[in-house]
Amino acid sequence: MARNEDSSLPLRHVFVTAKTGGGKSQAMRNVVVPRRGVRALFWDVDNDHYCTRFDNKGKFLKAVQAAVKSGKPFRLGWNGEDDQDTFTWFCEVVWRVLDGDFDTYIVLEELADLEMGQKTLPGLGKLQKRARKYGGIVVSNTQRVQEIPKSLITQAHKVYIGLQSAHDAKYIERVLGIPANQVEALKPLEFFTKNGETWEKVKIPYKAYGEKSRKRNQFA
Ligand SMILES: Nc1ncnc2c1ncn2[C@@H]1O[C@H](COP(=O)(O)OP(=O)(O)OP(=O)(O)O)[C@@H](O)[C@H]1O
Ligand SMILES: [Mg+2]
Repeated sequence: MARNEDSSLPLRHVFVTAKTGGGKSQAMRNVVVPRRGVRALFWDVDNDHYCTRFDNKGKFLKAVQAAVKSGKPFRLGWNGEDDQDTFTWFCEVVWRVLDGDFDTYIVLEELADLEMGQKTLPGLGKLQKRARKYGGIVVSNTQRVQEIPKSLITQAHKVYIGLQSAHDAKYIERVLGIPANQVEALKPLEFFTKNGETWEKVKIPYKAYGEKSRKRNQFA
């Protein structure tokens, strides 16, 4: 059960969208979620983030409990089963950890893969609507912006809109008012984000992660 409710805490949820290779994970890693010194839980089924990952529920729970008890920062991620039931379980684990005396980043990768369409899964809805008061900061992303609930875009504190296909760029224009041709013209790692009342273009820094140590097969 989330504890130490503090209604004065601001809404800080962040939503990021771009097609594949647009730079979503880079934006989350390099700009949105601090590198160190924070409590963070990751739905990280494609291994995109800096965290210790688990694919066993018991082990994950044990690590989360120990991390919370330590009173220190932690970065723990889930990269096991990625179906709706497991996601709902993950959201419940997150909910229990929330504590208004601490900020907790809740990083959710590729929500469209959960196939919820416009109907928010209950665990996610609870985090979206109630985590704020308990220090929860929901940072989520998707490649396929029309396949996730619109409320993720409209009710975030900050959104990053990256490169999109023509069809999705038109949807973005309808929902947020950024001209579709400008969204389509973005390059990888470029995003529109709101500064006060105006949309401004920002370039996200690229930082390698893991790629360097991986050797790819090259066919002659
Ligand atoms: N060495 C590099 N220097 C600069 N930019 C790079 C380098 N390597 C990759 N990139 C850029 O980073 C992008 C990948 O960023 P990222 O992994 O954040 O994308 P993504 O939006 O999360 O994609 P996906 O939806 O497939 O996960 C590449 O498309 C490329 O433009
Ligand atoms: Mg990614």
